[in-house]
Amino acid sequence: MARVMITGSADGLGLMAARMLADGGHEVTLHARNAARAADARAALPAAAHVVTGDLASLAGMRDVAAQANQLGRYDAVIHNAGVGYREPARIQTRDGLSHVFAINVLAPYLLTALMTRPGRLVYLSSGMHRAGNADVADLQWVGRPWNGSQAYADSKLFDVVLAFAVARYWPDVLSNALEPGWVATRMGGPAAPDDMTQAPVTQVWLAVSDDPAATVSGQYFYHQRPRQFHPAAASHSVQDQLLASCAELTGTELPKEP
Ligand SMILES: NC(=O)c1ccc[n+]([C@@H]2O[C@H](COP(=O)([O-])OP(=O)(O)OC[C@H]3O[C@@H](n4cnc5c(N)ncnc54)[C@H](OP(=O)(O)O)[C@@H]3O)[C@@H](O)[C@H]2O)c1
Repeated sequence: MARVMITGSADGLGLMAARMLADGGHEVTLHARNAARAADARAALPAAAHVVTGDLASLAGMRDVAAQANQLGRYDAVIHNAGVGYREPARIQTRDGLSHVFAINVLAPYLLTALMTRPGRLVYLSSGMHRAGNADVADLQWVGRPWNGSQAYADSKLFDVVLAFAVARYWPDVLSNALEPGWVATRMGGPAAPDDMTQAPVTQVWLAVSDDPAATVSGQYFYHQRPRQFHPAAASHSVQDQLLASCAELTGTELPKEP
């Protein structure tokens, strides 16, 4: 039995992964943006042991989620699943003055990783769209160029892979990997999404809890339990360090670098 927390698990792939884990006898902590969504999550998965709440669009919300999770004790695995912004039509600014897509998709997994008691495994949800991402950190908040929602999403999903690989490099005692679930018909994916919904939560669950030698690796990128080609920038130490430095500056919290 493993203790696993999944962000953004009131709906979609997060809830599906949580259900698979609970069905497999694991202790699951759900996460929802607010009390109403936490009630929805509890109703959807009564077998879950805990629900933490907090809006990952704000730095205060991210810190609150990390504090609640730490109160509950160390996790064997954390699945960073919460995400937004696939084709967000206009730039939304958070209360911290940040791009909404960047805050939720990149800064939240960064800050939770930095603040939560270090788990055994970390799993980051990316997307096939990350291969079209741009790893330049010069304008992460999209203030110096016209908004392009599809590009902002692709960039954020590339940074999720960069983050997973950076953590794998700095924390050799933790298994840190990223994956793409396929394009599937969740609320984000839309009703016309063509890929296999039953497969979509499997790889993140497998990376979180399986003892399969193929799953107990670090710094890898997967699709349907198999390694898949990733954007080469993700493996660049310089890109990794630039992203960590940007996130540290934006949050005021450094990722601890010691093993
Ligand atoms: N679906 C696809 O085809 C696809 C493809 C590639 C990658 N992905 C990735 O898979 C992950 C899950 O996506 P999905 O398809 O399951 O999307 P979804 O159905 O829209 O679910 C997203 C989850 O994230 C939560 N969330 C969003 N913003 C939040 C915030 N500010 N604070 C707290 N929670 C927040 C949502 O909560 P609410 O329900 O309360 O809004 C929901 O539980 C994402 O990282 C996405 O990028 C999905």
